[in-house]
Amino acid sequence: MANVILVGAQWGDEGKGKIIDVLTEQADIVVRTQGGNNAGHTVFVGPTKYVLHLIPSGILRAGTTCVIGNGVVLDPVGLVAEIDGLAKLGVHVTPQNLVISETAHVVFPWHRELDGQREVRKGNQKIGTTKRGIGPTYGDKAARVGMRVIDLVNAARFPARFRERLSENNEILQALGAQPIDSDSVLAEYTRCADRLRPFVTNTVVMLHEATRRGANVLFEGAQGTFLDIDHGTYPYVTSSNTTAGGACTGSGVPPNRMDRVVGVMKAYTTRVGEGPLPTENAEISDLLHGMGREFGATTGRMRRCGWFDAVATRHAAMVNGIDELAVTNVDGLDSVKSIRVCSSYQFEGQTLRHIPSDADVLARCEPVFEEFPGWETPTDGIRRWEDLPVNCRHYLLSIAQMTGARLSIVSVGPARDQTMFL
Ligand code: IMP
Ligand code: MG
Repeated sequence: MANVILVGAQWGDEGKGKIIDVLTEQADIVVRTQGGNNAGHTVFVGPTKYVLHLIPSGILRAGTTCVIGNGVVLDPVGLVAEIDGLAKLGVHVTPQNLVISETAHVVFPWHRELDGQREVRKGNQKIGTTKRGIGPTYGDKAARVGMRVIDLVNAARFPARFRERLSENNEILQALGAQPIDSDSVLAEYTRCADRLRPFVTNTVVMLHEATRRGANVLFEGAQGTFLDIDHGTYPYVTSSNTTAGGACTGSGVPPNRMDRVVGVMKAYTTRVGEGPLPTENAEISDLLHGMGREFGATTGRMRRCGWFDAVATRHAAMVNGIDELAVTNVDGLDSVKSIRVCSSYQFEGQTLRHIPSDADVLARCEPVFEEFPGWETPTDGIRRWEDLPVNCRHYLLSIAQMTGARLSIVSVGPARDQTMFL
């Protein structure tokens, strides 16, 4: 399988968790390289549903080593809770199957509080964040005042650094009229988590270098999606990391010339959680999908906004990520639709746009231009072979792949491992 980067080609929630889980069969190592517990990757193994936030989906396969890379922002309390939650489901997370980068940045309660406060102050311009403290933590990293895992697990150094950062942030919180954070209880909680996590912490850059030199197959598990990328997304309605393929290199320390292939995951339609432009948003398809009990956020439970497939967007995603192969998920979501629309260009002030505009305000005012595809109007969730999919369905999938500009290689018709077809 070599070294594969897997990215979301839309606004997140493309079904990456499931595709990663399927691809992990061939991977020795699975690495998270950006984001934090804002992510929610849902994976079904048999009847059991696992929702992963920080731990790579590879944890569900025996023999796979999972890595939380340097580009991640790590909430130690959230991670310990996730480890304990998995243990209850019979998945044992140990230093043998999970390693944590010593240079990942740590999320503290003041980051979460500031995340919430900033959203309140933005009023109707809010981003609709997951309130997990992601933006403020990456902000501290860029401002060079963050604390890293290496600081957290250094018992001699941590309390003094913690108190220093806490008092600075409490001043900011007080100025915003928010409650200050209690020093003793939080320090005790973080110290407990540090003790739990210390055995997992290592220099993952060196570990990955040695593993790739030995010929290990590494899967880089992207979180969120291309249009939530801090550089390439619909700024400012984005997350605070590089969700595109380049983030896999910077967030792991594995150089570009070690990467072999980029797989882009996209839904057969479009969804977005949180605010920001979504040109193909459509009430009818939203109601249809929500009525089927799907498209509710895995992390926050929020209803996802839904729309038709946007090929202008996915073409851009193919460009910035260098997508070689496409996995299309949630195909069964369209099973009952009579006529399916695909956006092939935008209209803006009388002009035809074939590229996604950089200005979110312009994008919000773009009118999608649609092509119509005949639906297949028959259930696909029981189908296991590409050849057995209805002709209209195959035509639709090949068309959206062609419009995106990459080869269709995986089709998913449901959450189970076996509801996956390879071309
Ligand atoms: P943040 O990452 O919590 O700062 O949120 C910024 C934006 O990214 C919001 O619109 C969130 O809804 C969105 N977002 C963050 N993580 C995910 C994810 O894993 N899936 C989908 N949307 C996400
Ligand atoms: Mg998700």
